[in-house]
Amino acid sequence: MRIAILGNGSVTRSLLPLLARDDRFAVAGIHSRSKPAAVSFEDFLDQSGADVLVELTTLNPMTGEPAISHIRAAFARNMHVVTANKGPIAHAFHELSREAIERKLDLRFESSVMDGAPVFNQFRNNLPGVQVLGITGVLNSTSKLVIEEMEKGGSFEDGLAYARKLGVAEADASYDTEGWDSATKTAALANVLMDARVTPQQVEREGITGWTPDRVQALAREGKSVRLVSRAWRSAERVMLMVQAEVLDNTDLLASGTGTSNVILFHTDRMGTFGTVSLSPGVEQTAYGVYSDLVDVLTRC
Ligand SMILES: NC(=O)c1ccc[n+]([C@@H]2O[C@H](COP(=O)([O-])OP(=O)(O)OC[C@H]3O[C@@H](n4cnc5c(N)ncnc54)[C@H](OP(=O)(O)O)[C@@H]3O)[C@@H](O)[C@H]2O)c1
Repeated sequence: MRIAILGNGSVTRSLLPLLARDDRFAVAGIHSRSKPAAVSFEDFLDQSGADVLVELTTLNPMTGEPAISHIRAAFARNMHVVTANKGPIAHAFHELSREAIERKLDLRFESSVMDGAPVFNQFRNNLPGVQVLGITGVLNSTSKLVIEEMEKGGSFEDGLAYARKLGVAEADASYDTEGWDSATKTAALANVLMDARVTPQQVEREGITGWTPDRVQALAREGKSVRLVSRAWRSAERVMLMVQAEVLDNTDLLASGTGTSNVILFHTDRMGTFGTVSLSPGVEQTAYGVYSDLVDVLTRC
């Protein structure tokens, strides 16, 4: 299967070795802003002759663009799409899914939430007839690293620098610390798993920017820590969404795991509450999620 890759950042760099070890895949080209492979993105797609576009450009939590347009351009050229970009799923999941179905194409986005740990695909593949009634999660690694750095006596900026070094911070890290990344993930989860029609702007949102080393250290002495918690639940009329910094006992499941670790819990009708914990995932796990989606697309073709 021929693959065109859009974006040449951390995830692409970790994906390439996975693809190189699997002779079912061939990379037709990589196109990015600073290293364009053609005059325009559309020319790049046309020249690539690819079967699938891997969309790995920067997150825009406000609009999901230009990634939404990239996905539509790929569909128009009869290409499947795999993306780790949560913006399009948070802003246009239903429209893009409909377009994919009409054209008999696949749209896969496992790595957009919880890196490569199965979230969307476990519902697709393993949980027929299970309805998600609510979701609770700690889904943003950068804010967690910042809080932990402050607990250890470092500054807010030290934590951000560490997250950037690990390659897990968004290009604009204020999206992490002001809760936009979590809000985008929460909206994406609700759109896909709860059939909501929401955008990140509809998530009641608070980040971690108000927290200081003194405050988190005082809590740490009491056996407590701060986590940016995402919540989605159904009210009588609609799906409600919230992201806020919560003070949790260190024994709370949501506070478990250090570093980049993420936790998600699904509250369901037939399966009660269950979840997934990803301990210290890195960009390699995000790349694996993209690879697993590509294998899924390949086996369906
Ligand atoms: N890193 C992670 O751990 C992680 C985890 C889950 C999901 N994701 C998602 O995966 C995606 C990629 O993440 P990343 O960490 O690889 O990002 P990154 O290191 O910031 O790289 C983004 C790449 O996208 C390119 N780009 C941005 N806008 C473009 C456009 N309009 N046309 C062509 N290229 C464009 C950039 O090109 P230039 O460098 O030339 O500007 C850059 O090469 C993001 O949506 C992110 O939210 C990342």
